[in-house]
Amino acid sequence: MRKFKRVLLLFLATTFTCQCALLAKPSSATKIWKIQCASCHGNDGKGRTSIGKALNVVDLTTEDFQALRSDEDLKNQIQNGSTDDRGVMRMIPFNGILSEEEIDSLVAFIREFKTEENSDGSQK
Ligand code: HEC
Repeated sequence: MRKFKRVLLLFLATTFTCQCALLAKPSSATKIWKIQCASCHGNDGKGRTSIGKALNVVDLTTEDFQALRSDEDLKNQIQNGSTDDRGVMRMIPFNGILSEEEIDSLVAFIREFKTEENSDGSQK
């Protein structure tokens, strides 16, 4: 009986370890965006979700936004998040939650909002 338990535990441990290893793999920027960012920024980056509106999130897709921010700025924001004047958190820092690789891929992902959204020439 004890042996059975040990085998069962070993089985469970292996199963869970494997799942964790899968989860820890760097996922695609689109997937991370949907899971970690879209609640506030929206799938389209315009920030028109209820949380986004409540926080008055900046529209990431406008030409102005894209032109005024360097890749370094975007990366810095994702790594460190931001707080308001009173130190209340507005965006959580993703340092430690996402790897540097994942953050770099998100910067590239955010850059695509511009080309996609304005590809028909309109400023939405
Ligand atoms: C809890 C809501 C929330 C989540 C989740 C969130 N953000 Fe933000 N984000 C904000 C807010 C609010 C701002 C506006 C910055 C400010 O006013 O302090 C912002 C601003 C930004 C900016 C623009 C910063 C600038 O230069 O003005 C980028 C880029 C950004 N977020 C990327 C991301 C990415 C990538 C994720 C997911 C990994 C993410 N955000 C998740 C709330 C959020």
